[in-house]
Amino acid sequence: MTDAGKFITLEGGEGAGKSTQVKALATHLQSLGIDVVLTREIGGSPGAEAIRQLWLEKGHGYWDALTELLLVTAARREHLVKTIWPALERGAWVISDRFADSTRVYQAIGLNLGIGIVDHFYEQIAEDFEPHLTLLLDLPVEVGLGRMTARGGQDDRYQQQKIEFHQQLRDGYLALVNENAGRFRVIDASTDSAAVTTSIVNTVDAFFDLRQRHAAS
Ligand code: TMP
Repeated sequence: MTDAGKFITLEGGEGAGKSTQVKALATHLQSLGIDVVLTREIGGSPGAEAIRQLWLEKGHGYWDALTELLLVTAARREHLVKTIWPALERGAWVISDRFADSTRVYQAIGLNLGIGIVDHFYEQIAEDFEPHLTLLLDLPVEVGLGRMTARGGQDDRYQQQKIEFHQQLRDGYLALVNENAGRFRVIDASTDSAAVTTSIVNTVDAFFDLRQRHAAS
């Protein structure tokens, strides 16, 4: 496939504010005249959204860990083939709320599957395709979980795990940043939402050198 467009992913633990920030980033890029496709994982295409339902409606421990990895991988393949790659081919910019780094953290570390098998399956479905830019919305675990509790969000199996579990995920994300410094940027997500948006917009503008577009728009 060609990649005429750009692929940006947002990652982070629970309560980082990703769903608000992906929308704000999409609005910003659209204001510069960019064709934007906003999507998410698990999901982002009809088949992948059906797998999301299968995945979310069952409690922790229902799926065998390897089965869970296969479900997430199957959903990602559908998302790539039906949504992400066609959009990039026509020159759109794709912003995804979570992508493969979530699996490298939640399944490889959280479910103890290890990075080897996670990377193996990823290569089977995507070869060496990776986001151009990944924004890690980073914040202390207690702050993120506090936000989830405040908005009554206890419906997801991973949100119900202990604080140590979430700390492991945060450490896993920060390790990925060190290993992939070229495509990762860390955003401090502990501040208020408007400040996080400003930080994201500035980071994206600098990364893709979009300032001249501001002048033109
Ligand atoms: P969300 O809270 O961002 O909507 O994501 C739903 C849950 O899906 C979240 O707990 C993380 C989990 N997840 C994985 O475990 N592995 C994955 O590969 C992805 C994309 C999400």
